Amino acid sequence: MVNISSTAGLLGVVIIARHGDRLGYYQDPCTYNATQSRITPLGSVQEFELGSFLRLQYLTPESPSFIEGISSDLVDVNQVLVRADSGGENVVLNSAYSLLQGLYPATTESSITLSNGKLVTGPLGGYQYVPVESVDVNEIPSLTSWQLCPYFQTHLNRTYTSTAFLQKAQEAAPFLEAVKPYIGNISNNFTNMWNIFDYVNVQSIHNKTYAEELPPTFAAQAYDYANFHEYNVFTDYVSIGVGEIGVRTLLPSIFSDFGNITEKSNPLKLVLTEVDYQPFISLFNVTNATLTDPDIAGIVDYAAVVALELSENSDGQPSISMKFKNGTNDQDFRQLTMWGNTSVLVEDFVSQLASTTINTTQEWCFSCNQTILRGCSIYNFSTDPFLNPGPPSKPGK
Ligand SMILES: *[C@@H]1O[C@H](CO)[C@@H](O)[C@H](O)[C@H]1NC(C)=O
Ligand SMILES: *[C@@H]1O[C@H](CO)[C@@H](O)[C@H](O)[C@H]1NC(C)=O
Ligand SMILES: *[C@@H]1O[C@H](CO)[C@@H](O)[C@H](O)[C@H]1NC(C)=O
Ligand SMILES: *[C@@H]1O[C@H](CO)[C@@H](O)[C@H](O)[C@H]1NC(C)=O
Ligand SMILES: *[C@@H]1O[C@H](CO)[C@@H](O)[C@H](O)[C@H]1NC(C)=O
Ligand SMILES: *[C@@H]1O[C@H](CO)[C@@H](O)[C@H](O)[C@H]1NC(C)=O
Ligand SMILES: *[C@@H]1O[C@H](CO)[C@@H](O)[C@H](O)[C@H]1NC(C)=O
Ligand SMILES: *[C@@H]1O[C@H](CO)[C@@H](O)[C@H](O)[C@H]1NC(C)=O
Ligand SMILES: *[C@@H]1O[C@H](CO)[C@@H](O)[C@H](O)[C@H]1NC(C)=O
Ligand SMILES: *[C@@H]1O[C@H](CO)[C@@H](O)[C@H](O)[C@H]1NC(C)=O
Ligand SMILES: *[C@@H]1O[C@H](CO)[C@@H](O)[C@H](O)[C@H]1NC(C)=O
Ligand SMILES: *[C@@H]1O[C@H](CO)[C@@H](O)[C@H](O)[C@H]1NC(C)=O
Repeated sequence: MVNISSTAGLLGVVIIARHGDRLGYYQDPCTYNATQSRITPLGSVQEFELGSFLRLQYLTPESPSFIEGISSDLVDVNQVLVRADSGGENVVLNSAYSLLQGLYPATTESSITLSNGKLVTGPLGGYQYVPVESVDVNEIPSLTSWQLCPYFQTHLNRTYTSTAFLQKAQEAAPFLEAVKPYIGNISNNFTNMWNIFDYVNVQSIHNKTYAEELPPTFAAQAYDYANFHEYNVFTDYVSIGVGEIGVRTLLPSIFSDFGNITEKSNPLKLVLTEVDYQPFISLFNVTNATLTDPDIAGIVDYAAVVALELSENSDGQPSISMKFKNGTNDQDFRQLTMWGNTSVLVEDFVSQLASTTINTTQEWCFSCNQTILRGCSIYNFSTDPFLNPGPPSKPGK
């Protein structure tokens, strides 16, 4: 067989990005219900830089990862699909807009000539308005599926009483005592580790007095303990467990993105989904990426990105390879593995994960035992296959 594809560019890419720097984000440790937060100018810059970085990778004809046939300067809105969670005060949604400004910068190529001969360029030197599908958290749980999910709360309880967790809490005890003067009035219980980390991180970035007073190792220690905490919260013993829900509700759209990109008659080439950190943890776990790279078992930094690159292998079959950059300060866009392989056929990716996915809001309601909120009240719970067998993940951890 003639290998015609190895030098060709990509078929497309599915990008998952985390929002940029923001103010404090408190998550109730018993529910992961979250208070609102706002993006900062630093956060917008981080996203803009990420967009520029992705532009160099995927929209620059000289790049080995150039997407074949994509309109690279003037956006073709049929080739690009963007969705972002619109919860809170739009930290994630605004991040998507900033990223897009770097991905498709303003261009005079969009200028038009009027009947009277006058040349008109759009505002801000030809700003390009790329449509963003804003996913309303109250109506569509897919990008924030762990919130308002009773079975997830059961999972939290189970996680907090597991042996590994209690051991880690004991190990962290001296740190938690020492950090108490630096976390305002929030609890220094290990169950509250996310909020401790977030407080230290946000203050360290934004408050000069605080940054000077904080003992030098504390920020990194808080990050480390929070990595452990969040990894345990957002993974589960089995891929179909409710601890993995953050990626189980994201996968269906990734599957259909792959389907649409690989369908020759479909113009779609680049998909961006802007989210918070939680789905990344579950994604790296259910794809076994953490086996080859154990250091990615934790919280991804602001403006981190995962790219699922689609190309044809030497047999002409569409396959995926996964790359990761852990935020603005990470210079490395590293190749990860999925189930030990750097390249996986689309059909194998889907068949590995199809049994884990939560495809619809109704399935989410059932998988969470949520009977009222987020549109669940319209479903008939007497047909709920999950109710009688009990919570979908295995107890005892
Ligand atoms: C979640 O938190 C928000 C803000 O803190 C609050 O307004 C809301 O009532 C909470 N929702 C639930 C179901 O606890
Ligand atoms: C979790 O545990 C607390 C006590 O630690 C209990 O009050 C609460 O009802 C439990 N929640 C769930 C959803 O099991
Ligand atoms: C901490 O203080 C803030 C205001 O200073 C208050 O809104 C919040 O409820 C307090 N939290 C706790 C856990 O006491
Ligand atoms: C920490 O929080 C857990 C769960 O809310 C609770 O069971 C435990 O007693 C708390 N520990 C301390 C030392 O307050
Ligand atoms: C900055 O940090 C100092 C020292 O911890 C604290 O007293 C002050 O309230 C902080 N400022 C803000 C705006 O949070
Ligand atoms: C294309 O996307 C649409 C909407 O997301 C989806 O319904 C459809 O199944 C996708 N097509 C393929 C071939 O995956
Ligand atoms: C996924 O997470 C579970 C629960 O934390 C863990 O037992 C399992 O080893 C992880 N899988 C991989 C491939 O790291
Ligand atoms: C990202 O970087 C931070 C800080 O450097 C680190 O603590 C964290 O574990 C990293 N996360 C991943 C998923 O690699
Ligand atoms: C994924 O990793 C787990 C160990 O955590 C292993 O049992 C399983 O076989 C791996 N799956 C594949 C498809 O390689
Ligand atoms: C990974 O590669 C191995 C060895 O080439 C192969 O047997 C396996 O099917 C691949 N797994 C996936 C999910 O592609
Ligand atoms: C959800 O979608 C996947 C992939 O398309 C499919 O394999 C699975 O059967 C669907 N699940 C349900 C419950 O319909
Ligand atoms: C599911 O929710 C219903 C209604 O809120 C409640 O009565 C039932 O106990 C819950 N089931 C489980 C297994 O938690």
